[in-house]
Amino acid sequence: MNLALEHTTNQSGQVQDQPVLEIHGRASLRGEVKISGAKNSALAIMAATLLCPEYCRLRNIPNLVDIDRMAQILQSLGVKLARSGDLLDLNTSNLAQLKAPYEIVSQLRASFFVTGPLLARLGLAKIPLPGGCAIGARPVDLHIKGLQALGAEVYIEHGVVSAAVKGRGGKLTGAKVYLDYPSVGATETIMMAATTAVGETRVENAAREPEIVDLANFCRSMGAKIRGDGTNTIIIDGVNSLHSTDYPIIPDRIEAGTFLVAGAITQSEITLDGVVPEHLTAVIAKLEEIGSRIIIEDTRRLRILPGQVLATNIETLPYPGFPTDIQAQFMALLSIAQGNSAITETVFENRMGHGAELNRMGADIRNKSNYALVRGVPRLCGAPVMSTDLRASAALVLAGLAAEGTTIVQGLHHLDRGYENIEGKLRQLGANIERVTFH
Ligand code: EPZ
Repeated sequence: MNLALEHTTNQSGQVQDQPVLEIHGRASLRGEVKISGAKNSALAIMAATLLCPEYCRLRNIPNLVDIDRMAQILQSLGVKLARSGDLLDLNTSNLAQLKAPYEIVSQLRASFFVTGPLLARLGLAKIPLPGGCAIGARPVDLHIKGLQALGAEVYIEHGVVSAAVKGRGGKLTGAKVYLDYPSVGATETIMMAATTAVGETRVENAAREPEIVDLANFCRSMGAKIRGDGTNTIIIDGVNSLHSTDYPIIPDRIEAGTFLVAGAITQSEITLDGVVPEHLTAVIAKLEEIGSRIIIEDTRRLRILPGQVLATNIETLPYPGFPTDIQAQFMALLSIAQGNSAITETVFENRMGHGAELNRMGADIRNKSNYALVRGVPRLCGAPVMSTDLRASAALVLAGLAAEGTTIVQGLHHLDRGYENIEGKLRQLGANIERVTFH
């Protein structure tokens, strides 16, 4: 196959080919897949360990590029980390500095999560402003508004957010914060900073995602006093200090949703092990609406029995609405549905780049700003495609599994941020997929 491969040049100017995923479609899948720990829980909880001046152990931590980058950020602040399998030990007793390095922050927006805990712990924080990414501008104004409400002085200069606690004692002060939008990150920043503030903090219009509840559970396991997490009003009573903990994080509902779609798009029966079914209510409802059957085998296992793939309409919303992080995967599935589907992306302003790449595989998708009309086609055909962002890359892998012929997915640096060994897990289910580098 004569491919126009993505090339980069290394220091000596040699052209270096990037690895790609080569997928031979139409294989049916069967068997069981173990779902890894939740990336978006792990990133916030790793930052929250800065709140505790002692040692913490985290379990079920996935092996992902984003996790490695967060570990680098914490190391740059003086945290000692030790990784063993899905265990991560962190010792934050000697924080060396309060400034995270731009070159890592620019690659991992979630680095901004360290701002709240550094302010709570040291009364000071200097964090480069995380830039936007492929899916949107990703501002942090709601994070900053929350920290200011808790008594921090925050200013932005030369692309760096500098925050300091005003007044004596360097302690934040509990306050009432209303979020203009139920931002996951802003809710997490405020909740973490408020754990050791003086007095009560109320977060109104808070995000309700399972990762918020997981972070609250983690903070409670260190002695924090938090209630209402999972609802739109969270109340935090500040405590003097927090202590060590050993905490297992929740499974990744987005990885789980991605594998459910893999079952539906290849018309295969597969079982997911180590999931929390109630975290997937919207996704399960939609899959059943379009013809699949989902069996909740017990508290931690789900089985999908494929059926027809009927058209439907999707509107992404904050939890418990349909998750924006599963929108791309569903667009791939609906591209081979019987009938026409409408997809509206309401959370991010530019999260439809995968439509054009799916069309290169024979899909019939008309996309205008954050709205897409997906006319179902009988079959996709394999092609070389380019990932535009993390979940778009997953959507292209799913499309390749269903397509006639060979698909080459390029841009794996996106995929590897959020999926642990996805090709190994799919191969174990029977997919014909391999990571190759063409020389
Ligand atoms: C988290 O991002 C997740 N990332 C995202 O997952 C997920 O898509 C998103 O929540 C929504 O569920 C992590 O947890 C690391 P938001 P976050 O703040 O916190 C606007 C993935 O694929 N906004 O809820 O950045 C923002 O622009 C990633 O795993 C402000 O305007 O999401 C967006 O339009 C992608 N000002 C909307 O809110 C702010 O200060 C939702 O963003 C903050 C956010």
